[in-house]
Amino acid sequence: MRPIVIKPCTSLRGTVRPPGDKSISHRAAMCAALSSGTTRITNFLFCDDCRATLRALGMMGVRIAAAPARACVTVKASGRLRGPKGDLYMGESGTSARILMGLLSAQPFVSRLDAASSLLRRPMGRVMEPLRLMGASLKGRRDTAGNEFLPVTIFPSQLKGIAWRQRIASAQVKSAILLAGLWACGATRVTEPVVSRDHTERMLKLFRAKIHREARGVCLEPSRLTSPGELAVPGDFSSAAFFIVAGLLAPQARVLIKKVNLNPTRIGLLWVLKRMGAKIRVFNKRSGFEPFADLEVCSSRLRATVVETREIATMIDELPILLVAAARADGTTVIKGAGELRVKETDRIESMRSNLLKLGVYLKVRALSKREDILISGVQAFPGASFRSFGDHRTAMSLFVAGLAGRRPSRLDDTACINKSFPRFLSSMNHLIVK
Ligand code: S3P
Repeated sequence: MRPIVIKPCTSLRGTVRPPGDKSISHRAAMCAALSSGTTRITNFLFCDDCRATLRALGMMGVRIAAAPARACVTVKASGRLRGPKGDLYMGESGTSARILMGLLSAQPFVSRLDAASSLLRRPMGRVMEPLRLMGASLKGRRDTAGNEFLPVTIFPSQLKGIAWRQRIASAQVKSAILLAGLWACGATRVTEPVVSRDHTERMLKLFRAKIHREARGVCLEPSRLTSPGELAVPGDFSSAAFFIVAGLLAPQARVLIKKVNLNPTRIGLLWVLKRMGAKIRVFNKRSGFEPFADLEVCSSRLRATVVETREIATMIDELPILLVAAARADGTTVIKGAGELRVKETDRIESMRSNLLKLGVYLKVRALSKREDILISGVQAFPGASFRSFGDHRTAMSLFVAGLAGRRPSRLDDTACINKSFPRFLSSMNHLIVK
């Protein structure tokens, strides 16, 4: 626990570079570990989650030279993994656990994934079900209702390609299936109701896998990966989102955010905020295996909007900070189909609802037969409050932004959880605050 006091800020000004993208960092390390040769990954995100991935790969014989001060990792791999001596500990990283489960399902050795208590409570059945259809042999912990959780033991098996249709768009599940498909007999296909983040597809292509897009989906042929030698991870849009909303809410603010990943499957928040009247300019657009650009954000008066279910996958991790923006918009914002928020690091509907209530903001949940909608009415100003992060990094950072936009100082009970995705969040934000 690291409690802090958040002082309201008079303005925000300056330039900031968000850290490397978390999803892309995981995938870069995994693909590098599966290729033969050396891959130098720059702007790698050294956070708790990505360290869990590196640690697991290291336990499987991959040589990893990490230089956190330079945000650089060099991965030397032989194209083959070795059976780990002991459990692969995932900490709180759901992305590591779910994607590695796919990769491990195709290995000729037994492995066991274990995790910290918060991740032990998160559902794993959604990824185990398609992997089993591919022929994977997995044994997880079951609750009385039959739902499956970590720890999961993975036994060797020969996999076959499947055509999997996801009910809920999930990039973690899609990625697990695709990585398992590298070793399967025959092609592996995944289709989704809407396209979830496609970083795995792009990364596999960069590593020369036989992969192509199809209508609403992707098809992968069994492939060996070839390292591109060097790759640079673009800045994380999900981390940039906190600077964006902080800049919009602060008076007379102008914030430049450099080299942000602008993958269209990730930036739903940008379009929603623009709809709400946000002054955000996108410039210096560049593109490699992922597109990126610079953003300029200025203080803006926001108005309520309706977020449709089909937009949710493009902004799933940004919903907590969108709630902070909506809490200061004119009118009532409706976010349709937000139920997935309940199974993140914490129940983010509940964590945000209880904290926003302390700011006089009422968040209502409308439960329909197939989806949950959030309704939130904006207020003119936030008083100070005593916030609880519930051990969730994105709840904590969203509340920090709410605290900056308050009239009086606020408190936040725990900031250690922020290390999960953005260890330098507080110092980067401080650098922008006009003293
Ligand atoms: C992620 C996918 C999303 C997201 C998570 C990272 C990824 O989860 O919420 O933070 O890197 O693939 P789901 O696939 O469960 O939607």
